[in-house]
Amino acid sequence: MSIEFSGGMADDERIISTRQLSEDEAENSLRPKSLADYIGQAKAKENLMVYIEAAKLRGEPLDHTLLYGPPGLGKTTLAGIIAAEMGVNIRITSGPAIEKAGDLAALLTNLSEDDILFIDEIHRLDRAVEEILYPAMEDFALDIIIGKGPSARSIRIDLPRFTLIGATTRAGQMTNPLRDRFGVMLRLELYSPEELCGIVERSAGILNIPCKREGAFEIARRSRGTPRIANRLLRRVRDFAQVRGTGVIDKQSADLALRALEIDELGLDNIDRTMLTSIIQNYGGGPVGLDTLAATIGEEAITLEDVYEPYLMQIGFLSRTPRGRCVTLQAYRHLHMEPADGQQVL
Ligand code: ADE
Repeated sequence: MSIEFSGGMADDERIISTRQLSEDEAENSLRPKSLADYIGQAKAKENLMVYIEAAKLRGEPLDHTLLYGPPGLGKTTLAGIIAAEMGVNIRITSGPAIEKAGDLAALLTNLSEDDILFIDEIHRLDRAVEEILYPAMEDFALDIIIGKGPSARSIRIDLPRFTLIGATTRAGQMTNPLRDRFGVMLRLELYSPEELCGIVERSAGILNIPCKREGAFEIARRSRGTPRIANRLLRRVRDFAQVRGTGVIDKQSADLALRALEIDELGLDNIDRTMLTSIIQNYGGGPVGLDTLAATIGEEAITLEDVYEPYLMQIGFLSRTPRGRCVTLQAYRHLHMEPADGQQVL
């Protein structure tokens, strides 16, 4: 199997860069390479095993697959695993990196039979580019218009059979024609603390970091259900353990590091807390519209919605109502605040 990056993620861009091992690259070394090594997402994994085995039995490529869910849950990892399990090559690109219809046409015509084309952030594809995908996905064909005006004509070029894997944090923002062309849709969910603990222990093993179970669990419990966050915190806790502790990740060094990073008992960071306190102090606990809230705290609405809200809703601190976002009583309690007298709180 080979992995190639296209568009905005070009390999040579990495080679000439002067920065040190980036988080992306460090993350790569921790990615599981097979479904057996992939922890969590039991439902998606179980179904995927069946689809992969069935496709292999029939000697066909896997149906086009859409992976969706909050960021950091392993969509790219899963695409790499699908390629490995199918025994095929994967080409990796992203929606914003494909600027023109011609860019996508070039990617498609360079695929080999059964290859996987992975498009991250597929909801950000340009409309003109997206239209090239429809016949490519449906008929493995590329329709090209030659000439202009009355003499223009369309020719059809056959493409190899391939699998498109799309990843998105916002399936709702995709157009219906694109979404409808995916035969397999897998929703990734936030991870449980137990699953994240397994991921932290696995990563600590790969990175050769001595790590006790309670230390791993402390990191897991404060990682907002997200492996990418858990792996990042693991590295920061290692720094503290080496400089201020015994070099071993245990409950004490994990707690010390997470306090220094201002990550609280439930994994909330400064932005989570600012979001909640702003709703309480400026909007009486809500409801408040997302754009208003974003402007108040100086963050982008899309970041609040994609990155912060899923976890706050999962732990029951925030609710979305037709009139806007509301803070719950549980969130008041966590922040040591009290609703005003007579105020209705969920
Ligand atoms: N590293 C990041 N995500 C992972 C997962 N789901 N399983 C194992 N290791 C991981």
